[in-house]
Amino acid sequence: MIPVSRPHIAEADIHAVTDALRKGFVSGDAPIVSQFEEEFAFAVNRRHGIAVSNGSIALDLSLHALDLEDGDEVIIPSFTIASCLFAVLRTKAKPVFADVDPVTWNLSPESLSEVISPRTRALIAVHTYGLPIDMAPVERLCDQAGITIIEDAAEAHTVRYNEQVCGSFGHASTFSFYANKAITCGEGGMIVTDDDSFASRLRSLRNLSFLPTPSPRFVHHEIGWNARLSAIQAALGKSQLRRMDEVTTEKRRIGLAYQSMFANRPDCQMQPESTPYSKNKYWVVGVVLDDHFNTREVAARLRSHDVDSRPFFHPLHRQPLLNSYSLSEQPVLSVSERLGAQGLYLPSFVGLADAEVSQCAEALISVLDEY
Ligand SMILES: Cc1ncc(COP(=O)(O)O)c(C=O)c1O
Repeated sequence: MIPVSRPHIAEADIHAVTDALRKGFVSGDAPIVSQFEEEFAFAVNRRHGIAVSNGSIALDLSLHALDLEDGDEVIIPSFTIASCLFAVLRTKAKPVFADVDPVTWNLSPESLSEVISPRTRALIAVHTYGLPIDMAPVERLCDQAGITIIEDAAEAHTVRYNEQVCGSFGHASTFSFYANKAITCGEGGMIVTDDDSFASRLRSLRNLSFLPTPSPRFVHHEIGWNARLSAIQAALGKSQLRRMDEVTTEKRRIGLAYQSMFANRPDCQMQPESTPYSKNKYWVVGVVLDDHFNTREVAARLRSHDVDSRPFFHPLHRQPLLNSYSLSEQPVLSVSERLGAQGLYLPSFVGLADAEVSQCAEALISVLDEY
Protein backbone atom coordinates (compact mmCIF):
# COMPACT_ATOMS: atom_id res chain seq x y z
CA MET A 1 0.00 0.00 0.00
CA ILE A 2 1.38 3.43 -0.90
CA PRO A 3 0.66 5.54 2.20
CA VAL A 4 -0.65 9.10 2.03
CA SER A 5 2.26 10.44 3.99
CA ARG A 6 5.58 9.28 5.35
CA PRO A 7 8.02 11.42 7.36
CA HIS A 8 11.36 12.12 5.69
CA ILE A 9 14.04 11.44 8.28
CA ALA A 10 17.61 11.93 7.06
CA GLU A 11 20.83 10.70 8.67
CA ALA A 12 21.51 14.33 9.65
CA ASP A 13 18.24 14.35 11.66
CA ILE A 14 19.20 11.16 13.49
CA HIS A 15 22.60 12.63 14.23
CA ALA A 16 21.05 15.91 15.49
CA VAL A 17 18.68 14.08 17.85
CA THR A 18 21.32 11.71 19.23
CA ASP A 19 23.70 14.64 19.65
CA ALA A 20 21.06 16.50 21.71
CA LEU A 21 20.56 13.39 23.84
CA ARG A 22 24.30 12.93 24.37
CA LYS A 23 24.57 16.54 25.51
CA GLY A 24 21.70 16.04 27.93
CA PHE A 25 19.41 18.42 26.02
CA VAL A 26 15.99 16.91 26.61
CA SER A 27 13.55 19.34 28.23
CA GLY A 28 11.86 22.52 27.01
CA ASP A 29 14.36 24.93 28.55
CA ALA A 30 17.49 23.63 26.76
CA PRO A 31 19.26 26.16 24.50
CA ILE A 32 18.48 24.17 21.36
CA VAL A 33 14.80 25.13 21.75
CA SER A 34 15.56 28.85 21.59
CA GLN A 35 17.97 28.25 18.70
CA PHE A 36 15.18 26.50 16.79
CA GLU A 37 12.81 29.38 17.64
CA GLU A 38 15.28 31.96 16.36
CA GLU A 39 16.08 30.07 13.16
CA PHE A 40 12.43 29.40 12.39
CA ALA A 41 11.37 32.99 13.11
CA PHE A 42 14.19 34.20 10.84
CA ALA A 43 13.01 31.85 8.04
CA VAL A 44 9.56 33.46 8.11
CA ASN A 45 10.79 36.98 8.71
CA ARG A 46 9.49 37.44 12.24
CA ARG A 47 11.15 38.84 15.37
CA HIS A 48 9.97 36.14 17.78
CA GLY A 49 9.32 32.40 17.65
CA ILE A 50 7.61 30.62 20.53
CA ALA A 51 7.94 26.85 20.20
CA VAL A 52 4.99 24.85 21.52
CA SER A 53 3.94 21.23 21.66
CA ASN A 54 1.69 21.25 18.60
CA GLY A 55 -0.09 23.44 16.04
CA SER A 56 -3.46 23.19 17.78
CA ILE A 57 -2.14 24.62 21.02
CA ALA A 58 -0.36 27.33 19.03
CA LEU A 59 -3.85 28.44 17.95
CA ASP A 60 -5.30 28.02 21.47
CA LEU A 61 -2.61 30.21 23.05
CA SER A 62 -2.70 32.85 20.31
CA LEU A 63 -6.47 33.27 20.64
CA HIS A 64 -6.33 33.16 24.44
CA ALA A 65 -3.77 35.99 24.40
CA LEU A 66 -6.19 38.20 22.44
CA ASP A 67 -8.35 38.44 25.62
CA LEU A 68 -11.62 38.06 23.72
CA GLU A 69 -14.83 39.04 25.51
CA ASP A 70 -18.38 37.69 25.60
CA GLY A 71 -20.12 38.65 22.38
CA ASP A 72 -16.90 38.96 20.37
CA GLU A 73 -16.80 37.06 17.09
CA VAL A 74 -13.90 35.25 15.42
CA ILE A 75 -14.18 34.36 11.74
CA ILE A 76 -12.74 31.07 10.52
CA PRO A 77 -13.00 29.36 7.14
CA SER A 78 -15.39 26.42 7.31
CA PHE A 79 -13.11 24.26 5.18
CA THR A 80 -10.21 23.61 7.53
CA ILE A 81 -8.96 21.64 10.53
CA ALA A 82 -11.12 21.47 13.67
CA SER A 83 -8.26 22.98 15.74
CA CYS A 84 -9.35 26.43 14.51
CA LEU A 85 -12.89 25.88 15.76
CA PHE A 86 -11.73 24.41 19.08
CA ALA A 87 -9.42 27.39 19.67
CA VAL A 88 -12.32 29.84 19.26
CA LEU A 89 -14.69 27.75 21.41
CA ARG A 90 -12.12 27.74 24.21
CA THR A 91 -12.39 31.56 24.40
CA LYS A 92 -15.50 33.58 25.24
CA ALA A 93 -15.94 34.50 21.58
CA LYS A 94 -18.34 33.00 19.06
CA PRO A 95 -17.07 31.30 15.88
CA VAL A 96 -18.44 32.69 12.62
CA PHE A 97 -17.84 30.67 9.48
CA ALA A 98 -16.81 31.97 6.07
CA ASP A 99 -16.88 29.99 2.85
CA VAL A 100 -13.90 29.23 0.63
CA ASP A 101 -13.19 29.79 -3.04
CA PRO A 102 -14.14 26.92 -5.38
CA VAL A 103 -10.86 27.12 -7.32
CA THR A 104 -8.23 27.76 -4.61
CA TRP A 105 -10.17 26.15 -1.69
CA ASN A 106 -8.95 29.08 0.41
CA LEU A 107 -10.90 31.71 2.35
CA SER A 108 -13.03 33.69 -0.08
CA PRO A 109 -12.68 37.48 0.40
CA GLU A 110 -16.32 37.87 -0.78
CA SER A 111 -17.59 35.46 1.85
CA LEU A 112 -15.38 37.14 4.46
CA SER A 113 -16.86 40.55 3.69
CA GLU A 114 -20.38 39.09 4.09
CA VAL A 115 -19.75 37.74 7.59
CA ILE A 116 -17.81 40.68 9.10
CA SER A 117 -19.93 42.36 11.77
CA PRO A 118 -19.36 45.14 14.33
CA ARG A 119 -18.53 42.33 16.83
CA THR A 120 -15.77 40.74 14.72
CA ARG A 121 -12.50 40.87 16.63
CA ALA A 122 -10.30 38.34 14.85
CA LEU A 123 -9.86 36.17 11.77
CA ILE A 124 -7.94 32.91 11.60
CA ALA A 125 -6.53 33.02 8.08
CA VAL A 126 -5.60 29.46 7.07
CA HIS A 127 -3.59 28.70 3.94
CA THR A 128 -4.94 25.43 2.58
CA TYR A 129 -2.86 22.48 1.36
CA GLY A 130 0.19 24.60 0.42
CA LEU A 131 -1.52 27.33 -1.62
CA PRO A 132 -1.78 30.77 0.02
CA ILE A 133 -4.96 32.77 0.52
CA ASP A 134 -5.24 35.90 -1.62
CA MET A 135 -4.04 38.01 1.32
CA ALA A 136 -4.29 41.54 -0.16
CA PRO A 137 -8.12 41.80 -0.13
CA VAL A 138 -8.28 39.91 3.16
CA GLU A 139 -5.83 42.31 4.83
CA ARG A 140 -7.72 45.30 3.37
CA LEU A 141 -11.05 44.12 4.77
CA CYS A 142 -9.52 43.36 8.18
CA ASP A 143 -7.70 46.72 8.35
CA GLN A 144 -10.90 48.59 7.54
CA ALA A 145 -12.87 46.74 10.22
CA GLY A 146 -10.12 46.68 12.90
CA ILE A 147 -9.90 42.87 12.84
CA THR A 148 -6.80 41.10 14.18
CA ILE A 149 -5.45 38.43 11.85
CA ILE A 150 -4.00 35.23 13.28
CA GLU A 151 -2.45 33.48 10.31
CA ASP A 152 -2.46 29.67 10.40
CA ALA A 153 0.43 28.64 8.15
CA ALA A 154 0.58 25.00 9.32
CA GLU A 155 0.09 23.82 5.74
CA ALA A 156 2.22 26.52 4.11
CA HIS A 157 5.73 26.41 5.59
CA THR A 158 7.81 29.09 3.77
CA VAL A 159 5.31 29.38 0.90
CA ARG A 160 5.30 32.87 -0.62
CA TYR A 161 2.46 35.25 -1.34
CA ASN A 162 4.03 37.57 -3.93
CA GLU A 163 7.35 38.35 -2.25
CA GLN A 164 6.09 37.92 1.31
CA VAL A 165 6.55 34.65 3.13
CA CYS A 166 3.55 32.95 4.78
CA GLY A 167 4.02 33.18 8.51
CA SER A 168 4.71 36.91 8.35
CA PHE A 169 1.10 38.08 7.87
CA GLY A 170 -1.12 39.45 10.60
CA HIS A 171 -0.50 39.91 14.30
CA ALA A 172 0.86 36.39 14.82
CA SER A 173 1.14 33.19 12.81
CA THR A 174 0.98 29.57 13.85
CA PHE A 175 2.65 26.43 12.52
CA SER A 176 2.41 22.69 13.09
CA PHE A 177 5.34 20.27 12.94
CA TYR A 178 3.20 17.14 12.99
CA ALA A 179 4.67 14.13 11.16
CA ASN A 180 2.97 14.92 7.85
CA LYS A 181 4.02 18.60 7.73
CA ALA A 182 6.75 20.05 5.48
CA ILE A 183 9.13 19.82 8.42
CA THR A 184 8.40 17.76 11.48
CA CYS A 185 9.40 17.44 15.12
CA GLY A 186 7.23 14.31 15.45
CA GLU A 187 4.76 16.56 17.25
CA GLY A 188 5.34 20.27 17.64
CA GLY A 189 4.29 23.77 16.76
CA MET A 190 5.42 27.40 16.70
CA ILE A 191 3.86 30.82 17.10
CA VAL A 192 5.72 33.68 15.43
CA THR A 193 5.06 37.38 15.93
CA ASP A 194 6.75 40.79 15.77
CA ASP A 195 4.95 42.03 18.89
CA ASP A 196 7.36 41.94 21.86
CA SER A 197 4.75 41.94 24.63
CA PHE A 198 2.52 39.38 22.86
CA ALA A 199 5.59 37.14 22.51
CA SER A 200 6.48 37.45 26.24
CA ARG A 201 2.92 36.67 27.23
CA LEU A 202 2.89 33.57 24.99
CA ARG A 203 6.24 32.40 26.38
CA SER A 204 4.79 32.63 29.86
CA LEU A 205 1.46 30.99 28.93
CA ARG A 206 3.15 27.95 27.35
CA ASN A 207 5.27 27.51 30.48
CA LEU A 208 2.69 27.28 33.30
CA SER A 209 2.54 31.09 33.37
CA PHE A 210 5.93 31.35 35.01
CA LEU A 211 7.27 34.85 34.62
CA PRO A 212 10.83 35.51 33.47
CA THR A 213 13.50 36.20 36.09
CA PRO A 214 13.84 38.31 38.22
CA SER A 215 10.13 37.73 38.96
CA PRO A 216 9.69 35.36 41.89
CA ARG A 217 9.38 31.68 40.88
CA PHE A 218 6.09 29.81 41.59
CA VAL A 219 4.03 33.01 41.66
CA HIS A 220 1.39 32.95 38.91
CA HIS A 221 -0.93 35.69 37.67
CA GLU A 222 -3.02 33.65 35.22
CA ILE A 223 -3.77 30.05 34.26
CA GLY A 224 -1.00 28.62 32.13
CA TRP A 225 -0.38 25.52 30.05
CA ASN A 226 2.50 23.14 29.81
CA ALA A 227 2.81 23.49 26.05
CA ARG A 228 6.59 23.33 25.91
CA LEU A 229 8.44 21.71 23.01
CA SER A 230 11.16 19.35 24.21
CA ALA A 231 14.81 19.76 23.20
CA ILE A 232 14.67 16.35 21.50
CA GLN A 233 11.85 17.59 19.26
CA ALA A 234 13.59 20.94 18.70
CA ALA A 235 16.76 19.13 17.61
CA LEU A 236 14.77 17.29 14.96
CA GLY A 237 12.93 20.45 13.83
CA LYS A 238 16.14 22.47 13.64
CA SER A 239 17.80 19.81 11.52
CA GLN A 240 14.75 19.47 9.25
CA LEU A 241 14.55 23.23 8.75
CA ARG A 242 17.87 23.04 6.86
CA ARG A 243 16.15 20.93 4.20
CA MET A 244 13.13 23.17 3.67
CA ASP A 245 14.14 24.13 0.11
CA GLU A 246 14.66 20.49 -0.81
CA VAL A 247 11.17 19.69 0.55
CA THR A 248 9.66 22.51 -1.53
CA THR A 249 11.34 21.22 -4.69
CA GLU A 250 10.21 17.64 -4.01
CA LYS A 251 6.62 18.62 -3.24
CA ARG A 252 6.46 20.71 -6.42
CA ARG A 253 7.82 17.81 -8.48
CA ILE A 254 5.14 15.49 -7.11
CA GLY A 255 2.33 18.06 -7.42
CA LEU A 256 3.24 18.91 -11.01
CA ALA A 257 3.41 15.21 -11.93
CA TYR A 258 -0.15 14.69 -10.63
CA GLN A 259 -1.25 17.93 -12.31
CA SER A 260 -0.14 16.64 -15.72
CA MET A 261 -1.79 13.23 -15.12
CA PHE A 262 -5.16 14.88 -14.34
CA ALA A 263 -4.85 17.69 -16.91
CA ASN A 264 -7.52 16.15 -19.16
CA ARG A 265 -9.80 15.00 -16.35
CA PRO A 266 -12.47 17.61 -15.66
CA ASP A 267 -14.08 15.07 -13.27
CA CYS A 268 -11.01 15.31 -11.05
CA GLN A 269 -10.20 18.89 -10.08
CA MET A 270 -6.96 19.95 -8.35
CA GLN A 271 -5.95 23.29 -6.81
CA PRO A 272 -4.17 25.43 -9.44
CA GLU A 273 -0.43 25.03 -9.94
CA SER A 274 -0.10 28.77 -9.44
CA THR A 275 -2.16 31.91 -8.97
CA PRO A 276 -1.23 35.50 -9.91
CA TYR A 277 0.29 35.83 -6.42
CA SER A 278 1.81 32.44 -5.60
CA LYS A 279 3.07 29.02 -6.57
CA ASN A 280 1.41 25.96 -5.07
CA LYS A 281 3.75 24.05 -2.74
CA TYR A 282 1.40 21.02 -2.83
CA TRP A 283 1.67 20.26 0.90
CA VAL A 284 -0.90 17.63 0.01
CA VAL A 285 -2.29 16.78 -3.40
CA GLY A 286 -6.06 17.01 -3.21
CA VAL A 287 -8.59 16.14 -5.88
CA VAL A 288 -12.27 17.06 -5.96
CA LEU A 289 -14.38 14.50 -7.81
CA ASP A 290 -17.53 15.11 -9.81
CA ASP A 291 -20.72 15.01 -7.76
CA HIS A 292 -21.83 11.58 -8.98
CA PHE A 293 -18.81 9.88 -7.34
CA ASN A 294 -19.05 8.69 -3.76
CA THR A 295 -15.60 9.52 -2.36
CA ARG A 296 -15.72 6.82 0.34
CA GLU A 297 -16.45 4.25 -2.32
CA VAL A 298 -13.66 5.63 -4.53
CA ALA A 299 -11.23 5.54 -1.56
CA ALA A 300 -12.15 1.90 -0.88
CA ARG A 301 -11.59 0.97 -4.53
CA LEU A 302 -8.27 2.84 -4.52
CA ARG A 303 -7.15 0.77 -1.54
CA SER A 304 -7.72 -2.35 -3.61
CA HIS A 305 -5.13 -0.86 -6.02
CA ASP A 306 -2.74 -0.46 -3.04
CA VAL A 307 -3.17 3.32 -2.97
CA ASP A 308 -4.20 5.02 0.24
CA SER A 309 -6.05 8.35 0.39
CA ARG A 310 -7.70 10.62 2.97
CA PRO A 311 -11.00 12.47 2.84
CA PHE A 312 -11.05 16.27 2.93
CA PHE A 313 -12.09 18.24 6.03
CA HIS A 314 -15.71 17.91 7.06
CA PRO A 315 -17.01 21.52 7.02
CA LEU A 316 -16.71 23.14 10.44
CA HIS A 317 -20.12 24.83 10.30
CA ARG A 318 -21.68 21.34 10.08
CA GLN A 319 -19.82 19.79 13.04
CA PRO A 320 -22.16 18.08 15.52
CA LEU A 321 -20.34 19.64 18.47
CA LEU A 322 -21.87 23.02 17.55
CA ASN A 323 -25.20 21.72 18.95
CA SER A 324 -23.74 21.87 22.46
CA TYR A 325 -23.02 25.57 21.95
CA SER A 326 -26.44 26.40 20.45
CA LEU A 327 -24.64 27.13 17.20
CA SER A 328 -26.30 24.48 15.06
CA GLU A 329 -28.25 27.06 13.00
CA GLN A 330 -25.76 27.88 10.26
CA PRO A 331 -26.18 29.18 6.71
CA VAL A 332 -25.34 27.00 3.72
CA LEU A 333 -21.66 27.39 2.75
CA SER A 334 -21.89 25.50 -0.47
CA VAL A 335 -18.23 25.38 -1.49
CA SER A 336 -16.99 24.04 1.88
CA GLU A 337 -19.82 21.52 1.86
CA ARG A 338 -19.00 20.32 -1.65
CA LEU A 339 -15.27 20.05 -0.93
CA GLY A 340 -15.99 18.12 2.26
CA ALA A 341 -18.18 15.67 0.34
CA GLN A 342 -16.20 15.30 -2.90
CA GLY A 343 -12.54 15.77 -1.96
CA LEU A 344 -9.80 13.35 -1.12
CA TYR A 345 -6.06 13.62 -1.11
CA LEU A 346 -3.49 11.25 -2.51
CA PRO A 347 0.03 10.11 -1.52
CA SER A 348 2.48 13.00 -1.89
CA PHE A 349 5.30 12.51 0.62
CA VAL A 350 8.91 13.50 0.02
CA GLY A 351 10.61 10.58 -1.70
CA LEU A 352 7.51 9.37 -3.59
CA ALA A 353 9.00 8.27 -6.91
CA ASP A 354 7.62 9.48 -10.26
CA ALA A 355 6.59 5.89 -11.04
CA GLU A 356 4.60 5.77 -7.79
CA VAL A 357 2.88 9.07 -8.63
CA SER A 358 1.88 7.54 -11.97
CA GLN A 359 0.67 4.39 -10.20
CA CYS A 360 -1.53 6.45 -7.82
CA ALA A 361 -2.91 8.70 -10.57
CA GLU A 362 -3.55 5.77 -12.94
CA ALA A 363 -5.29 3.88 -10.13
CA LEU A 364 -7.63 6.82 -9.54
CA ILE A 365 -8.28 7.26 -13.25
CA SER A 366 -9.15 3.59 -13.67
CA VAL A 367 -11.43 3.64 -10.59
CA LEU A 368 -13.26 6.68 -12.00
CA ASP A 369 -13.51 5.16 -15.50
CA GLU A 370 -14.89 1.89 -14.14
CA TYR A 371 -17.26 3.57 -11.67
C1 LIG B 1 -4.17 24.29 9.14
C2 LIG B 1 -3.85 23.50 10.36
N1 LIG B 1 -3.85 24.13 11.55
C3 LIG B 1 -3.57 23.47 12.69
C4 LIG B 1 -3.28 22.14 12.69
C5 LIG B 1 -3.04 21.43 13.98
O1 LIG B 1 -1.72 21.04 14.14
P1 LIG B 1 -1.34 19.85 15.13
O2 LIG B 1 -1.73 18.59 14.50
O3 LIG B 1 0.15 19.99 15.26
O4 LIG B 1 -2.03 20.11 16.42
C6 LIG B 1 -3.25 21.45 11.47
C7 LIG B 1 -2.92 20.00 11.47
O5 LIG B 1 -3.02 19.24 10.61
C8 LIG B 1 -3.56 22.14 10.28
O6 LIG B 1 -3.58 21.52 9.09
